Amino acid sequence: MGVVVIPRVIFRYPSLFRLAQQQNPFANSTRLIMEMVSLDSLDTLLARDGAVIWHPFTQHGLGRPLLPVAEARGAMLRDTQGREYLDMISSWWVNLHGHGRRELAQAVAEQIQRLDHVQFAGATHEPAVRLAERLLEKAGLAGSARVFYSDNGSTAVEAALKIAHQHWVNRGEPRRLFATLRGSYHGDTVGAMSVGRSSGFFDAFHGMMFETVSLPVPLIWNGFANEEGDKAALEEVARLLEGDADSMAALIVEPLVQGAGGMRFHSPRFLEKLCALFRDRGIPVIFDEVMTGFGRTGSFFAYQQTGIIPDMICLSKGITGGILPLAVTIVAEKLFDSFLGNDFSTALAHGHSYTANPVACAAALCSLDLHEQTDSMGQVDRINRRMARHLGLLAGNPRIEHLRILGGIAAFDLAGVESAYSAAAGREMAAYAQENGLLMRTIGNVIYFIPPYCITDEQIDTAFRVIGEFLGRQKAS
Ligand SMILES: Cc1ncc(COP(=O)(O)O)c(C=O)c1O
Repeated sequence: MGVVVIPRVIFRYPSLFRLAQQQNPFANSTRLIMEMVSLDSLDTLLARDGAVIWHPFTQHGLGRPLLPVAEARGAMLRDTQGREYLDMISSWWVNLHGHGRRELAQAVAEQIQRLDHVQFAGATHEPAVRLAERLLEKAGLAGSARVFYSDNGSTAVEAALKIAHQHWVNRGEPRRLFATLRGSYHGDTVGAMSVGRSSGFFDAFHGMMFETVSLPVPLIWNGFANEEGDKAALEEVARLLEGDADSMAALIVEPLVQGAGGMRFHSPRFLEKLCALFRDRGIPVIFDEVMTGFGRTGSFFAYQQTGIIPDMICLSKGITGGILPLAVTIVAEKLFDSFLGNDFSTALAHGHSYTANPVACAAALCSLDLHEQTDSMGQVDRINRRMARHLGLLAGNPRIEHLRILGGIAAFDLAGVESAYSAAAGREMAAYAQENGLLMRTIGNVIYFIPPYCITDEQIDTAFRVIGEFLGRQKAS
């Protein structure tokens, strides 16, 4: 390995080399040398990235710095210079059990050697069938629903929308409208954008989208129940359905928490009544649990905090524990039945090359085991109590408002500042956090925490200390 480069690296960064040795006494010398080599090549990596990569949700014209990540373990990420960052957003809300889980790596390695991939039309395999069985069991839907596989949250939603649409076509009563909650986000493909058009992310794409109806959503936060808002919203929806019910294909909702729209919470009782208005008129209800699934809200699925059994459930993100892309759309058997026939015309013409990839399914099965072995719901409860304590300490700070917590998701808004997605105050906070060892992304003026379930209480304390310092600094300036 890099013996030739050692003298050059040590010559260039002698103090950092000593510092790394002091701070990382467990690392062997090979590892240290490699870290120093990567330090040497950092500029090169960023320059190479700048020449060939187009990053998601990024305005490259602004030239904002990138975090070059080299390694991750537990709740920590480490950059190419050896600096560590607490992953307070679970790497875009996907990671559950911590980074670098040996069990997941082993499950993936074993599966890839047995069966790496096969197309899922006209073929099947044990990992996909087993995973479907276990997910349906977890959802309490064994015998009454089935699983349609895809690759990511957007495709899980896209499949649900197409299933709802074709369900009505197959019944000979085509319906064109989807109802959504204002501020919802469901992904970036065209159908998902259409039902998420009011999220504000997709202004450039209005010409591509289909028509939707967006419904009022009465927000709640700690200490604010909004019963009047619930009532007014439900009356508005009931009025709307008087005219539009017969053209309505489905209602799609992010249950309890609208994630990318700003970690906005609504009440389970509101959701129940809203869904009842649609269900009573025979309109299917889709729950997009891409973000809320797998324990984030304090129950394994968010809908389990309501009395509703949705007709379809979209899952992705945490499904593999956050290590491989996979998604499912769980579909009620009665919807599936409307696709049965004697020719292809009523079949669902939808599928992806990597549908039900066996390696991703093996990771998802292992992740389900890890939920049990690590008592993930108990961990979410612990995280909830710790973060709630910190929110309690922040309450009353005039710089923030709308403090809210549900399961392992905590959030608040920066008060009196611009709220647009690119709001400066949020960006400043995220930059400060990163300088101080936290990986955070803000949504406009919304600061949120959604850490992996392995995070320790001390790590949570550290994160809130840094954010508290930021808020204190702002007050002083
Ligand atoms: C509720 C919800 N649905 C769908 C998606 C889209 O998922 P993906 O980014 O995997 O396409 C997201 C992503 O954040 C989401 O939060």
